[in-house]
Amino acid sequence: MRQNLAFICFFIFYAGVGLYGQSFDRLALTPPMGWNSWNKFGCNVSEKLIKDMADAMVSNGMRDAGYQYIVIDDCWQIKRDSAGNIVPDPQRFPTGMKVLADYIHSKGLKFGIYSCAGSMTCQHRPGSRGYQFQDARQYAAWGVDYLKYDWCFEEGQNAKAAYKTMSDALKATGRSIVFSICEWGENKPWEWGQGIGQLWRTTNDIRDGFDMSVNWGGLGVLQILDKQVGLEQYAGPGHWNDPDMLEVGNGGQTNTEYKSHFTLWCMLAAPLMAGNDLNNMSDSTRIILTNKEVIAIDQDTLGLQGFKFLTMGNIEVWVKALNDGDAAFCFLNRGNQTEDLNFDWKKHGIYHFSTDKNGFKLSKNIYQVKDLWNHKVIGTTSDNLKIRIKSHDVVLVRLNAVKNK
Ligand code: GLA
Repeated sequence: MRQNLAFICFFIFYAGVGLYGQSFDRLALTPPMGWNSWNKFGCNVSEKLIKDMADAMVSNGMRDAGYQYIVIDDCWQIKRDSAGNIVPDPQRFPTGMKVLADYIHSKGLKFGIYSCAGSMTCQHRPGSRGYQFQDARQYAAWGVDYLKYDWCFEEGQNAKAAYKTMSDALKATGRSIVFSICEWGENKPWEWGQGIGQLWRTTNDIRDGFDMSVNWGGLGVLQILDKQVGLEQYAGPGHWNDPDMLEVGNGGQTNTEYKSHFTLWCMLAAPLMAGNDLNNMSDSTRIILTNKEVIAIDQDTLGLQGFKFLTMGNIEVWVKALNDGDAAFCFLNRGNQTEDLNFDWKKHGIYHFSTDKNGFKLSKNIYQVKDLWNHKVIGTTSDNLKIRIKSHDVVLVRLNAVKNK
C-alpha cells in the first residue's frame, strides 16, 4: 500500500514537471516584446523611471501594439544580506520589487529583471553564481515574469550547464518566467538554448549606429544583421535568436535608419525590446515602434525567421514566410546612394511557404503586394516592382496570398 502511494506521488510529481516543461516551451510562442532600461539609461535605473516607462507604454499605444515586458537591466541590485538574499538598491527602489511588480501588473504589463551567471554582473553588482535557486525563488516571490541572464565574470563555467542551472531554478519555482539567455553568442547558444531559455543573444552588444564597421566598440545594425545569416534554422515558436535590443529613438541614427533597423529585426523574428526613453519620444519614433502591420511580420505565428535571399549590388532582399501562404519581402539599400530597383517577381520566382525547413518553394500564384510603411497596395506580382530606395532605407512589402484561395 505504502509502495503504491509512493509510486502515485512519484507519478504526480513527474507528470507535474512534464506539464510545467510543456508550459515553459509555450511561454514565448511569438518573440517577446517589451522595453529594457539598458540602451538608454544604463545604470541610472530607479523605481520612478520604471513606473514612468510602464505608464508611457500604456499611454503611447505600445501596449496595444503588443509590447508587454518592462525589464530592469543591470544595477538594481546592491549587495547580498547575511542570509544571502539579493538586496535591491534601497535609494533607487525604496518601496521594493514586489510593490513595483504589482504596479506593472496593474497596468496589464509584465515585469522583468536582470542577473548574471557569473559571480558579478557586468557592472560589478552581485551575480547569481552559487545563489541560483535562492534568487529564482526571490524573483518568483516578487512576481517577476522575465529574467535576462548575463555572462560577465563567468570564471570558466560551461555555458550550457550554467544556463541550465538557472533555467532549472526558474522552473522549480512553478512561476512562468521567460528566460533570456544573454551569453553574446560565444558558445553557440542556438545549438543548446531550446528548452533552457526562450531566447538567446547571438552577438556582442548593439551600439546606436547603422553601419559601425569603422567606429568599433560593439556592433552596428548592419554588422549584427550579417551575423544572423544561417541562424534562421534555429528559431521557432518558444525559442528565438536575439540580435539584441532596439536602439530606435536613441539619437545615433536617422529616422530612415531606425525604420530599417526595426524592419530588419521584424524580418528576423527578433524579440522587440525597445531601448529608448518612452516618455520623451518623437512622433517618428512612436510611428516606427507601433506600426502594427510591421509588428505582425515579427509576431507571425508560423515563427519562421527571415533569411537573406538575394544580393543585387547594394540591395539585399530578405524574405520571411508567413502564415496562410503570405510572405514578407524586405529590400534593403546598404549603400550610400539612392537606388532604383526594377524587381521582376517572375524572374526571381515567387516563393511561398512549404513544409520543408527552408520554408519556400516556387509558386506560380499571383500575390497582392502591400507596402507596409505606406500602408498601400502597390500592385501584384504579375508586374515588376519598381521602387526607389534611399540610402540605408528599406521597402517592406507583404505578399498577400488571398487572391489564390
Ligand atoms: C552586457 C549585456 C548588455 C547589458 C549590460 C549590463 O553587456 O550584453 O545587454 O545587459 O551587460 O551591464
